[in-house]
Amino acid sequence: FKKVTTNSVQEMKQNGEKISMLTAYDFTLAKIIDSAGIDVILVGDSASNVMAGHETTLPITLDQMIYHASSVVRAVERALVVVDLPFGSYQGNSKTALNSSIKIMKESGAHAVKLEGGVEVLTSVRRILTAGIPVMGHLGLTPQSIYKFGTYTVRAKEEEEAEKLISDAKKLEEAGCFALVLEKIPAKLAAKVAKAISIPVIGIGAGGDVDGQVLVLHDMLGMTHEFHPRFLRRYLNLYEDINGAVQNYITDVKSSDFPNEKEQY
Ligand code: KIV
Ligand code: NA
Repeated sequence: FKKVTTNSVQEMKQNGEKISMLTAYDFTLAKIIDSAGIDVILVGDSASNVMAGHETTLPITLDQMIYHASSVVRAVERALVVVDLPFGSYQGNSKTALNSSIKIMKESGAHAVKLEGGVEVLTSVRRILTAGIPVMGHLGLTPQSIYKFGTYTVRAKEEEEAEKLISDAKKLEEAGCFALVLEKIPAKLAAKVAKAISIPVIGIGAGGDVDGQVLVLHDMLGMTHEFHPRFLRRYLNLYEDINGAVQNYITDVKSSDFPNEKEQY
């Protein structure tokens, strides 16, 4: 197999091949999804919710992201590994953004970084790119700005916000981002953006007329339980499966059924 690169995902868009992307935060699951053939693995700051149990993505730190990212990188042989710059590690100061990105690349061995926002973060994007670090953009629902928006509902339904999103997408492309995530926006708008720019657009809750799809791994595996957005397709119900397996284990321990003769020395 060939390793996936920022160039090869761009070729996939040109060739009309859809890009598959999932999140991962640890060695064991990263190994499974890499060997299954996933194109891109995102070490998302959704680790703040999924792994650490925080209500938002804001609390996770740069060092915690690097811990997750380095665990993922040790497992991966083929996929492109992209790491989220966490809240506070890039906004407002392009030097800080560059230093945070260099730290991620050096200490985790990942291949690219992702950050949220458009025109507001453009100088940071440009400065990170000067170090040869590939950058993925992220527009639409940007969870690090939850306290500005107040809710996790669909974004850019109004003309004005849609126009800004299109203009931001073009600016990110011009600045040199290699790809762009669009989260929870109308499918029509996402399709328009995917047509308007030549870099791959990877959607989550952004419809099918984009260049690839991303989901949070624990959501699509059904490990998370109380999260039912329309865009989420569950491929397993691991919450129930694991719960049942653990109940069986408890029963076997309590009844002295486990271990049996063959399961001991
Ligand atoms: O952190 C994350 O999981 C993400 C994806 C939802 C795109 O940013
Ligand atoms: Na994220």
